[in-house]
Amino acid sequence: MNQPTPIKRLRLMVKAGMKDFKRTASFFPSSPAVVRDMVEPLRLGRAKLVVEFGVGTGVVTQALLERMPSSARLLAFELNASLAEFARSQFKDPRVEVVCGGAEGLLPALAARGLSDVDAVASSLGLTLMPDRTRHDILRAVVARLRPKGVFTQLVYMHGTAVPFKRFEGAISTFPAEEFLEDYFRDIDRRWVFRNAPPAFVYACTGPIR
Ligand SMILES: C[S@@+](CC[C@H](N)C(=O)[O-])C[C@H]1O[C@@H](n2cnc3c(N)ncnc32)[C@H](O)[C@@H]1O
Repeated sequence: MNQPTPIKRLRLMVKAGMKDFKRTASFFPSSPAVVRDMVEPLRLGRAKLVVEFGVGTGVVTQALLERMPSSARLLAFELNASLAEFARSQFKDPRVEVVCGGAEGLLPALAARGLSDVDAVASSLGLTLMPDRTRHDILRAVVARLRPKGVFTQLVYMHGTAVPFKRFEGAISTFPAEEFLEDYFRDIDRRWVFRNAPPAFVYACTGPIR
């Protein structure tokens, strides 16, 4: 693996954020503290199939690969073509396939590869800035394919749940991340991560509700 410098990662995120902030959702790669909280709950030791949404500059991808068994497979979705290309050049590990496309395409992407059950999903998608219908479509697809004992982690920036800048169900309001996730999972564990720009919550969700 050809590991990029922190400055290179930062430059790429700033560029992506300037080009399309609504989708990139941040100007900064996640900190080691966020990466740890995104990956640790995923029980990767026995995972066969892992999915990542929103590769960005690959900080979470790298941590997933470090913890996955040698026989496991990682399907990593990134919508931004430059970032997807960057990830492909960075990760030569045969376990990972970078899909340049939206997380919305999870079900067809799995079907096209003859895959079905997913053990773990790490998502750093900017759910807060996404159309309501899109985020529901993505979560529905996740719970349809996540094994009953599988784990889903989701990064949510704190300001996204506190600042009323987003139209939610017809009114200008904050994004109630936890309520949203409760429609899809029985158990949700929330961690506060202040050592990140911007500060964030990481949700670890289990017990998919189909
Ligand atoms: C907040 S960044 C996180 C990047 C990286 N995982 C990190 O933690 O530093 C979100 C990433 O999700 C990507 N993205 C946004 N919408 C997406 C979608 N529908 N499907 C896949 N990737 C998407 C963006 O291009 C961006 O790279």
